[in-house]
Amino acid sequence: MFTTSGIEQTHAWKELQAHQRTLIGTHTLRQLFAEDSARFDNFSLQLDDLLMDFSKVCLTAKTVSLLIQLAQAAGVEARRDALFSGDAVNDSEDRPALHTALRSQSKSSLIVGSIDIMTAIRQSQARLIDFAKRIRHGNLTATNEQPFTDVVSIGIGGSDLGPRLVATALRSYHDGPRLHFVSNIDGTHFADIVATLDPCRTLFIVSSKSFSTTETLANAEMAKNWLAHAVGDNDVWRHFAAATAAPEKAAAFGVARECIFELWGWVGGRYSLWSAIGLPLLIAVGTKHFFDLLSGAHCMDKHFCAAPVSKNLPLMLGLVGVWHRNFFRYPTRAVLPYSHRLRHLPAYLQQLDMESNGKQAGAGGRTAVRHTGPVVWGATGSNAQHAFFQLLHQGTDVVPCEFVAVARSHDSALDANHRVLLANCLAQSEALLHGTSGDIEPHRRCVGGRPSITLLFEKITPFTLGRLLALYEHRTFVESVIWGVNAFDQWGVELGKSLIGELLTVMDDEGIAGKDSSTRGQAAHLRRLR
Ligand code: F6P
Repeated sequence: MFTTSGIEQTHAWKELQAHQRTLIGTHTLRQLFAEDSARFDNFSLQLDDLLMDFSKVCLTAKTVSLLIQLAQAAGVEARRDALFSGDAVNDSEDRPALHTALRSQSKSSLIVGSIDIMTAIRQSQARLIDFAKRIRHGNLTATNEQPFTDVVSIGIGGSDLGPRLVATALRSYHDGPRLHFVSNIDGTHFADIVATLDPCRTLFIVSSKSFSTTETLANAEMAKNWLAHAVGDNDVWRHFAAATAAPEKAAAFGVARECIFELWGWVGGRYSLWSAIGLPLLIAVGTKHFFDLLSGAHCMDKHFCAAPVSKNLPLMLGLVGVWHRNFFRYPTRAVLPYSHRLRHLPAYLQQLDMESNGKQAGAGGRTAVRHTGPVVWGATGSNAQHAFFQLLHQGTDVVPCEFVAVARSHDSALDANHRVLLANCLAQSEALLHGTSGDIEPHRRCVGGRPSITLLFEKITPFTLGRLLALYEHRTFVESVIWGVNAFDQWGVELGKSLIGELLTVMDDEGIAGKDSSTRGQAAHLRRLR
């Protein structure tokens, strides 16, 4: 295990550097396919219906073997075991990151501090299930004793992106009240969402681990005023619940104690959808489907812990990420879900990946590598084909692409379109690989040899979705271990937050001393316009 010298000084790293130079000097991706008729079999993995094809990445059996050596040199498996057993892997905040416990089906206890968190999780889940059932069945009613028809989740970042992605992906499973999400402090977000809602039949769930996030509190305040206007001050709190690790703050805001659902410090915000932060989902899709989501994630957890590295999907996905980032120096990667229902996946992965691994400081006595998390971006296929795929095929920078597609649409009546959608997905990765051939004009030429990974599974269900998201969580973790960063803190977002208060006064022409001329100039321009 490396400590001070850093992973870049290890034999495996240096071997990979030399191997990459040789490989690109002697082979194109097209040639690798031409030379190995079993390339797909050799470089794809499967877990039940989930296929991960990384044969369209410029690598060989030697690459894989060296990457596995790199994982060993970085101690990835030991760190993984530390993650699952509750060690303080989040060393800057001295706490574990136990999102995996939230979906564990183990009967054993897991002690954090002096508390058995498995018991705490079961108790929390029982309260959540009971509350969700009462909302769904109309036993817990709104003003005028009417059932709630709409639930609005107020939250941002990890308290929004995961639940929003899952709610959208599982739309076919919704059989509870309608679900809406408000995140932006731009008041038009709130205004647009509530425009069609009946305040007398709307429940707001304030989702905030810290219960101190400016955007969320501002939107909660707007909700309070909007409700008070319609139902009167006394009834407002019948329309509020909260999911938070700061129950006292939620209570001080006014939420009734019995409607406050706790999570814990050891649940990271971007890993929290499996906790009380998932309450809006539980209300929308019901207990069975919510727990199927957790089961899917648990299935991937078990696979991550048990499968040998060469057959381990999150491990290999992470290692390919490192191969691209550190040995090819690709600065970005694109996520391309060929699924309208997975349209929020790129935004979710942006937070998961970039908030986890967009760092320079080393963690846990390790030295961070020179290049850590790439920029993650993307959009749904086929729409993105008509937007930025031009650059993917002919641009001057190579962008590794990650295609995600499902074999079957939820509704067989939509299958004709779905076949075309899938053909589009296959066509794009094929075109990236092969490019154009023959003697054609330069402006028509696509060089090909552009790498992609494809994830395919049968259908979007709660189980397959949970499995997919856990795959990405663990990929992020694997990469963080090799890069030597702490995937579970986010100190970089604090600086901007801390300046907001000052800037409010600058916009009022106070406290401008010490501000740079650009910030002063912008504030002055805004004052004139306002
Ligand atoms: O801005 C970053 C962040 O702290 C995220 O990590 C988190 O998911 C989000 O803000 C929301 O935080 P909270 O759940 O405490 O409102």
